[in-house]
Amino acid sequence: MTKAIIGTGSIGSRLAANLVAGGAGVLLASNNLADAATLADTLGDHATAVTVDQAVDAADVLVLAVWLDTAKQLLAQYRDRLPGKILVDPSNPIAPDGNGGFVKTIGAGESSGQILAALVPAGARLVKAFGTLSAETLTSASRRAPEPAVGFYAADDDAASDAVAALITAAGFDPVKAGGIDQSIRLEVFGDLHEFGALGRAVNRAEALAAL
Ligand SMILES: NC(=O)c1ccc[n+]([C@@H]2O[C@H](COP(=O)([O-])OP(=O)(O)OC[C@H]3O[C@@H](n4cnc5c(N)ncnc54)[C@H](OP(=O)(O)O)[C@@H]3O)[C@@H](O)[C@H]2O)c1
Repeated sequence: MTKAIIGTGSIGSRLAANLVAGGAGVLLASNNLADAATLADTLGDHATAVTVDQAVDAADVLVLAVWLDTAKQLLAQYRDRLPGKILVDPSNPIAPDGNGGFVKTIGAGESSGQILAALVPAGARLVKAFGTLSAETLTSASRRAPEPAVGFYAADDDAASDAVAALITAAGFDPVKAGGIDQSIRLEVFGDLHEFGALGRAVNRAEALAAL
């Protein structure tokens, strides 16, 4: 399966590095090709810079490593070309609160995973993943030994679940499914399965299963 990451900021660049470290090939796209090319140059032969347009065309799995509003915009812009594809959503719907903290930008009972899933056209599937850990932990906990760190995910579709579980493994984490996309809120900031929630850190499989 061809994998692409759209967005080469904190999460996109670190996820790309994790995948390349695991020997996986990845297409990289961002707001401008130069940023994607700069990152691809640092990662070597397994990373290839492309335009967002090319990424949408070529990839079977598209990680939307962008903020929620941008993800909404991309889903609308490329709607006709998304059937058949798996979209991966790491977004946390937050913004600075002006006091050094963060505030949720959507309703208390809402999740960005469910909001985005509702915008996905028929034939495309959305999976929530890669948002439960901070960018720093996404790097430091990848391929952790002896006990791998868990990467939680949530999905409604079995085939998409399997594909994203394989992607989480390739990124150096132990995939644990929290349930359907309606469980996304638990994976997002302020949710109990997020690193900054009750867990407080990247957990191992036994800890993750106990928390579910
Ligand atoms: N940072 C974290 O610790 C963390 C942890 C978990 C989840 N997340 C989630 O991951 C997502 C990305 O966060 P981040 O921290 O990586 O943000 P970021 O550092 O701001 O990176 C966002 C990336 O998206 C690109 N972008 C913006 N508009 C675009 C467009 N129309 N088409 C293609 N690319 C576009 C940006 O390019 P420009 O720089 O040119 O604008 C940038 O490369 C967010 O939803 C966030 O909630 C973040």
